[in-house]
Amino acid sequence: MIRPLDAADAAAFQALRLRGLRESPEAFGSTYEEEAGIPLDEIAARLARGAEGEDVVFGALDDGVLVGVAGLRRDRHRKARHRAHVWGMYVAPEARGRGLGRALLESLIAHARTLPGVERLTLSVVPDNQAARSLYLHLGFVSYGLEPRAYRLDGEYWDSEHMALVLA
Ligand SMILES: CC(C)(COP(=O)(O)OP(=O)(O)OC[C@H]1O[C@@H](n2cnc3c(N)ncnc32)[C@H](O)[C@@H]1OP(=O)(O)O)[C@@H](O)C(=O)NCCC(=O)NCCS
Repeated sequence: MIRPLDAADAAAFQALRLRGLRESPEAFGSTYEEEAGIPLDEIAARLARGAEGEDVVFGALDDGVLVGVAGLRRDRHRKARHRAHVWGMYVAPEARGRGLGRALLESLIAHARTLPGVERLTLSVVPDNQAARSLYLHLGFVSYGLEPRAYRLDGEYWDSEHMALVLA
């Protein structure tokens, strides 16, 4: 089951998000340490605002248990209101390979199409993340640039590949 998360999902969302940051640190621009201390009510408030549609997190539930998440955030700047950014795509390892990542991204794309004026979806991925890259390519995202050394942690660097999907 794929659905937008709301305030009641805050604890489950935070647990899965932190698990992703801990288990797949190379996949995300953020870190476990930065997010572990975010108060639950802050997360709940953000998920509640998501109901308005422009800053939304979709979840994949398996028997009522949250096993996957992906976010969509519309740019707030007047000249960039036609863009929305996909962030935080994560499916728990035990739920992978069953189409949930694809279903989450398809739901985000379908949702973006309902937002008047949104024309482009963007996202960033570490180029050697084959699973995520091929998911994005399968759903029509096109690579438009490679940012060298976009991330740095403890002396290690990662490139970032930028991709976009133009909504018809
Ligand atoms: C990327 C991720 C979300 C995919 O989730 P998933 O539920 O396993 O993906 P799906 O089962 O829906 O697969 C969809 C497509 O993804 C690609 N894919 C998924 N796993 C793959 C793998 N191990 N190797 C290559 N391609 C893979 C395939 O293109 C697949 O299409 P197909 O079903 O037609 O073969 C998951 O591996 C994950 O959470 N990884 C860790 C976090 C991460 O990398 N997030 C992305 C940050 S940019």
